[in-house]
Amino acid sequence: MDEFIYMPWSNMYSTGYSKIDEEHKKLVDILNTLYGDIVESKTTEDYTDFQETVKTLLDYAREHFSHEERLMNLLNYPQYYRHKIRHDKFLSDISKQSELYKVDPKPISSQFLIYIRDWISEHIAVEDKDMVLYVVNHLKDQQT
Ligand SMILES: [Fe+2]
Repeated sequence: MDEFIYMPWSNMYSTGYSKIDEEHKKLVDILNTLYGDIVESKTTEDYTDFQETVKTLLDYAREHFSHEERLMNLLNYPQYYRHKIRHDKFLSDISKQSELYKVDPKPISSQFLIYIRDWISEHIAVEDKDMVLYVVNHLKDQQT
């Protein structure tokens, strides 16, 4: 729902590589949906939408990270492993937490949303911007 904007998109998050930026916007959209689901579940006590959106977030993050990792690999990005470790950590933290929420979603905490929001914004601002800088410079030689 439109009124639930937990993390507004900002140009600050633009890396300058439109395909990657579109994928980041989609991640932010999913986070905003998740926020709306949590707000609703507090009144309805129905956590179905929340559980589905967590799954969507994990699936989409996996797909997006694989895209970045393929690009980094293709162009021999020197920070590939460091970057991949950050992706893997995010996926494992969210998976672990979502398993706990499957058993009992009642204690969903704002920390969960804060973790996702801060991770996305910090990761884009630091690691992804650095990666894109390298990628656009090296793609010129590859004609991809
Ligand atoms: Fe990344």
